Amino acid sequence: MAYDILLIEDDANIRSFAATVLQSHGFAVTACETAAQGLKLFNDKRPDLIIVDIGLPDGNGIDVCRMTRTGVGPFVPVIFLTAKGDLQTRLAAFEVGAQDYIQKPFAIEELLARVKVHLKIKESQDELARRNYDLEILHRVQQDLSDMIVHDLKAPLTSIKGTLDVIKSRGLISEEAYKNLLSNAGEAADFMLLMVNDILDIGRSEQRALPVELSSISVETMMEKLKSLFNPSCQRKNVRIVSTVDPQAKTLTTDTNLFFRILVNLTSNAIKFSPKGQDIEIRTSKVNNKTCFSISDRGPGIPPHLKNHIFDKYAVGHTKSAAEASGTGIGLAFCRLAVTTLGGTIFVEDRPGGGSRFAFELEAK
Ligand SMILES: Nc1ncnc2c1ncn2[C@@H]1O[C@H](COP(=O)(O)OP(=O)(O)OP(=O)(O)O)[C@@H](O)[C@H]1O
Ligand SMILES: [Mg+2]
Repeated sequence: MAYDILLIEDDANIRSFAATVLQSHGFAVTACETAAQGLKLFNDKRPDLIIVDIGLPDGNGIDVCRMTRTGVGPFVPVIFLTAKGDLQTRLAAFEVGAQDYIQKPFAIEELLARVKVHLKIKESQDELARRNYDLEILHRVQQDLSDMIVHDLKAPLTSIKGTLDVIKSRGLISEEAYKNLLSNAGEAADFMLLMVNDILDIGRSEQRALPVELSSISVETMMEKLKSLFNPSCQRKNVRIVSTVDPQAKTLTTDTNLFFRILVNLTSNAIKFSPKGQDIEIRTSKVNNKTCFSISDRGPGIPPHLKNHIFDKYAVGHTKSAAEASGTGIGLAFCRLAVTTLGGTIFVEDRPGGGSRFAFELEAK
């Protein structure tokens, strides 16, 4: 691709000679004779390099250079054409950000050589800027993915803590119940371990998205795991998780870990916002060729103006209690990202009779 050079020079002879030679060396040249035309062309065409004369009929090249240095956009080198021996002007030109100057009368070979050098430097700078931008995006994406995992460590950790509290406060319990509690805590710890490994993987690789590993899962088994995980919080709040699974929706091919994390987030919110003593309902149904999961509670619901934004990162709704106010708004952002990654859709609606119903649909495979 030919480089675009903007040449601002009021001397018609120099202008046409320089333009012709630069063009004959494969550069695309736009030439003009005033500062105003030069600035307009700069804004319209965003050239790769500017050659500008110091003395122009309507101003001076230093002002032109200064004005090209405001605003954003890729770096554009500026070469000045100056009168011989004018040190003050040359210094002023460097002061406003020019890269080079050339004294008139000049040998065209020298102008060409300088143009090529500065275009080469520009190319490396642009490449560096591109790489820097890519790295910044990668860093931001990886940070988001890590934040989401760290956020999701809360649920199993809270579960383990709850189990320990139960064991501590209940004193003597049957061996059977004791085994169950330990097994639940063990499962919660395994879940945490998986996620800790996921965080380490993010740091190790150039991972830019949620990795997906498909396998066939039993929805009922997932529901049992979910109930075990939230057993301590459910007991504390005196709520039950009531799940129903349509016979045609008992199995699903998806990423087990992502799927479980979506359920955990939606269920943890439902428990958090549910009034004491009200059940959380989780329905799994088959609608056309989709499997639909809905998590319904009797909490305050999502106000209409927030329904479209509640899945945005760091979006938090109205809060009534200190416990609700501790929200980060990361959980639902993760749910949307994970559901989208799995090719599905997620939404929230009012639950008839009060509360909210968060639902997501995945292709039934
Ligand atoms: N079931 C629900 N009932 C009412 N409001 C909800 C419900 N689920 C989510 N929200 C609203 O959506 C906001 C964002 O939820 P999200 O899960 O992303 O973060 P959070 O729950 O605030 O934080 P965290 O998950 O870290 O506790 C919540 O602050 C709350 O206002
Ligand atoms: Mg949450």
